[in-house]
Amino acid sequence: MRYRQHPRTGWELSEIGYGMWGLGGWTGSDDAQTLQSLAEAVALGCNVFDTAWAYGAGHSERLLGQTLRSHRDRRLYVATKVPPKNQRWIQLDDCTLDDVFPSDHIRKYTESSLENLGVDTIDLQQLHAWSDRWAADDRWQRTIDDLRTEGLVRSWGISVNRWETTNVVRALDTGLIDCVQVVYNIFDQDPEDVLFPYCQERGIAVIARVPFDEGSLTGTLTRETQFPDGDWRNMYFTPAQLAATLPRVDRLTSIVPATMTLPELALRFILHHPAVTTTIPGMRRLANVRANCAVSDGVPLAPPLLEQLREHRWERDWVVP
Ligand SMILES: NC(=O)c1ccc[n+]([C@@H]2O[C@H](COP(=O)([O-])OP(=O)(O)OC[C@H]3O[C@@H](n4cnc5c(N)ncnc54)[C@H](OP(=O)(O)O)[C@@H]3O)[C@@H](O)[C@H]2O)c1
Repeated sequence: MRYRQHPRTGWELSEIGYGMWGLGGWTGSDDAQTLQSLAEAVALGCNVFDTAWAYGAGHSERLLGQTLRSHRDRRLYVATKVPPKNQRWIQLDDCTLDDVFPSDHIRKYTESSLENLGVDTIDLQQLHAWSDRWAADDRWQRTIDDLRTEGLVRSWGISVNRWETTNVVRALDTGLIDCVQVVYNIFDQDPEDVLFPYCQERGIAVIARVPFDEGSLTGTLTRETQFPDGDWRNMYFTPAQLAATLPRVDRLTSIVPATMTLPELALRFILHHPAVTTTIPGMRRLANVRANCAVSDGVPLAPPLLEQLREHRWERDWVVP
């Protein structure tokens, strides 16, 4: 595993981090398997774990807490998130700060996450959704500063809403945010335009999330793929959206080098960008943990292949939470 330095805190973070949504919130998760996968990731050098209160109402955080207690000899970095009070995750411009992140709510969920994780301080606490309309409001600014001063949180981040990659820049201008988390993958290349150069200039860390486009870039989905009732992926991969996605995956598959898999290519694409501090594939299965951690070997993508991947950028006009 290779490490990249967080520009503000100096933390050496593994290039491959651990996305902990699916294991806490998607159907088909098995806690025993998850704990084994988490332990394997630690053994392979992964030291960044991205969870959220919303991933199973604290369930994902509690699994991470168990992992932390089993690895007290290792410095593992914990990232979690405060859920939006009104449970809206995108297009929040018609909501007020009081609807989404009132001060008492930010504090209450930070305290709840500390308890679920079983730690005294959260390394990276993130706001799980955002509208830059609130950027100048000093109430959220004072609250996050207080929680940092009190020692409950070491650093703050914002998880940018899906496909709203610049709807955070004014909040970053405040200087209070140390890290942004954003959807970035072979399809979603938009953060390269504005957000990444901004972060590089200001020394803000970047967590690249959803590296496999929620699964399509693993190459395992087919037209017949269906998820059980209640699984969020039914909203992302509706029959129409799946039908629009699969031909694009096929075109991509045709350029994957013979020595590589599609998931490997997807991760190597993300790691090619110097603004990226870490990427956090969602992983439940041991085999996926092993395959993904192995990608962090410092071998860059060949420039002609990188050029070809530029053609696979896809600006979607769907609205998905
Ligand atoms: N608003 C937000 O802040 C927000 C939103 C979305 C995601 N996130 C964060 O980003 C993380 C990553 O996104 P995601 O988990 O939604 O989606 P993702 O990482 O794009 O895809 C996860 C899927 O890929 C599969 N997978 C992983 N490695 C594989 C491999 N090598 N080969 C084949 N399949 C593989 C996983 O299978 P298994 O699970 O079976 O191993 C899972 O089904 C989340 O876990 C979460 O921490 C944050």
